[in-house]
Order: sequence, then structure tokens, then C-alpha cells
Amino acid sequence: MGIQTRRIERDLAVINSFNATPGQGITRFTFTEPYMQARSYVAEQLQKIGARVETAPGGNLRGRLEGSHPAFPSVMTGSHIDTVLQGGRFDGVAGVVAALEVARVMVEEKIPHRHPVDVVAFAEEEGSRFGSVMIGSRTWIGKLSPEDLDRLKDRNGISYREAMEEMGLRRAEAPLLKPGMVKAMIELHIEQSLVLEERGIPIGLVEGINGIRQFGVILKGVPNHAGATPMALRHDALQGAARVIAAVEEIARKEMGDPTVATVGMISCEPGQANVIPGRVDFTVDIRDLDSERIEQTARRVIAVIRNICQDRGLTFEIQPRSDTPPVRLSKEIIALIEESAREKKIPFLPMRSGALHDSSILPEVTEVGMIFVPSQGGRSHCPEEETDLEDLAKGTDLLLSVVCKLAA
Ligand code: CO
Repeated sequence: MGIQTRRIERDLAVINSFNATPGQGITRFTFTEPYMQARSYVAEQLQKIGARVETAPGGNLRGRLEGSHPAFPSVMTGSHIDTVLQGGRFDGVAGVVAALEVARVMVEEKIPHRHPVDVVAFAEEEGSRFGSVMIGSRTWIGKLSPEDLDRLKDRNGISYREAMEEMGLRRAEAPLLKPGMVKAMIELHIEQSLVLEERGIPIGLVEGINGIRQFGVILKGVPNHAGATPMALRHDALQGAARVIAAVEEIARKEMGDPTVATVGMISCEPGQANVIPGRVDFTVDIRDLDSERIEQTARRVIAVIRNICQDRGLTFEIQPRSDTPPVRLSKEIIALIEESAREKKIPFLPMRSGALHDSSILPEVTEVGMIFVPSQGGRSHCPEEETDLEDLAKGTDLLLSVVCKLAA
């Protein structure tokens, strides 16, 4: 008995059969037909084992297995079932089917628990439809208001609230999450990177979620004739930008070193003519680390380099903040508990951090949060090639079962 890989495989197959882009990866945008079909499947599976299925604020799905002490705070597990455009079969879904299987085994084996166990599928984690990430979880903890849900619109001008209501999700049955209502939240998710595969380790024990600092840089020089202006008299914004961009990599790799990462992902150049010296370049800098002081230090170094390069080349610059998401430290107690269970089950694990954001980044405001990673083959994610070995997923689910049982006991 215990965790059954075949059932996990079937859940994955059924959920991923609800797909707006068959043959071209998986596309399941929040509150679309395929999304609602997948959501109904999860709800039916939960009802089958006697869970009370409810819609939570923000359109999230919650299935509750009542504990012997219903007033006790619940133990929550799950992830999301929305996807990016032409994404993969595992991002989000892996954590939902794992949670579902954990609940099934707890019921089948009559594992006693005083705390209620909640299986959740968060809505609009990816932000693919409404342009903003983790809307479901942020709404559930009260960070987004009903007015925000009216304001958030998809490409066709349909608001989040309208889309939700159109699918019959008019009323939230579950309450807003407040501190004290949930004892712990554990999310299983695919790693979306190469670390576990390269080390040959099936489980990642997530200690934290990287913070992200993004800012825009504008370098201004003097646009001029590409033929008539001698090299020594130029103020070429793109030549300056090229040196800054090269320095961003150097600073992250050599000065800061692992685990800091820094990326220039967007660039535009004006006037953008082959025969005109560039007068203005806009680009972005994205810096990530688990330590906010290191993010700060990296940003300061990048800005210092921009200042020097601009001085040397007679350019001016502006820095425009884009976003600043602080790093999230996950719960030490939960990390210790996952570690203990992994040792008991003799499953090798690697302490690591998450480079991507998850609903679990939002929930530490109301509860203790832990995350379990399973390997992504080739580190591929958000693409049709996204793949995770079912045996690894089963191991992660088994670990999740052990942790949820201990917390809910
Ligand atoms: Co995800």
C-alpha cells in the first residue's frame, strides 16, 4: 500500500488532457474551460475520499479532510494547476497530484490526525492570463482586495472577478487565511533547474526562495552621424551599455560568486539606425539571491560601474526601480521535519534554494512554510520538454505524506 505511482501517473494524465494547445505543450490559463475541467477533476477526486471541497477567496480550490479536532489549525499542501503558454506537464500540477495522493493514502490507511488536512490548488500562480503572479494565494491571505480583482484584466478586458463568476465561482466558502488558522503549508514542486539531476539526488529541501531586485537603466549619449563623427569625439550610449552589461556578469560571477545571479534580459537602442551613433539605450538588470544584503551589494556595485563608465565616456544615466521582492526564508522547524522524514525513509536530499517564485513565497505571512523539490530532467521548465521521473515524484510524495502525517497528528 502507501503511495501508488500508477495513481499519480493517471492524475497527471487526466489533468493534462485538459489542454488548450494539444501537441504544443500544455496551456491551461486560469478560469478557462480546460482549467475548470482540471479543477473539477481534482474536486471530484477529493470528494471521492470524503473531503469537503470548497472555493476559497480568489477562486482557489480547497478540499478538507476533517481531523478529530476540527478546531485545530489545518495542515495545508498543494500547488497550482494553471500553466504558462505552451508549458509542461509538471509545473504546479506535480504538487497538486502529490497532495491528492497523500490525502488518499491517509484516508485508505485510516491514519489518525487531529488537525484537518487541506489539499489546495491555487489559482493564477503563473500570471499567464491576468498579467500578475500568485493572484489566488495573495487574495486568499487578503493581500489583494475584491476591487483588485475587478481591476486585474485579461487581454480581452475580462476582469479576474468576471472570469471567476462566469465559471460559477461566485462565492468563497472558505474564509480568508489569517495567522493561526493554518499550522503549516508544504508545497511539492519541480525544481525547474539542473542542480538535483546533476548531483543525482531525488529530493531538494528548499531553505528559501530567492529575492529579486530589478531595475531599468537608461544610458544617454549624443546621437550623431556614423560617418562624420571621429571615434574620439563620440558619446555612444550603446558602447557604454555593452561595457556595463559585460560587467554585470563579471560582478555576479567573480566578485559576488555563487549563489548570486544577475541578468540583463531586455535591451533597446535609439534611434536604432545602422548609420546613427546610438543616443540612448534602455536595459534591465535582474539580481537574485537568498540574502538581501548580497542583493543590495550587487546592485550597488552595478550602479558604481555604470557611474564610472558614464564618466569615462561622457554619458549620463538614470536608474528606474522596477521591482524589489525580498527573499523568503522558509520555516526552520518544517525544514528540520522534512529532513528527519527523509532520513527515516533513507531518501537522499540536498538543501537548496528556489530561484523561482511560488505560492509558498506568499504564505509565510500567515503560516509556517516548507517546500520539497523533485528533479526536472535537463533542468527544463515552462516548455513542452518539461519532464520529471515518476519514481522521483513518487519519492517526493512519500516524503510529503510522512511530513503531513507528523504535522497533522
Ligand atoms: Co509552479
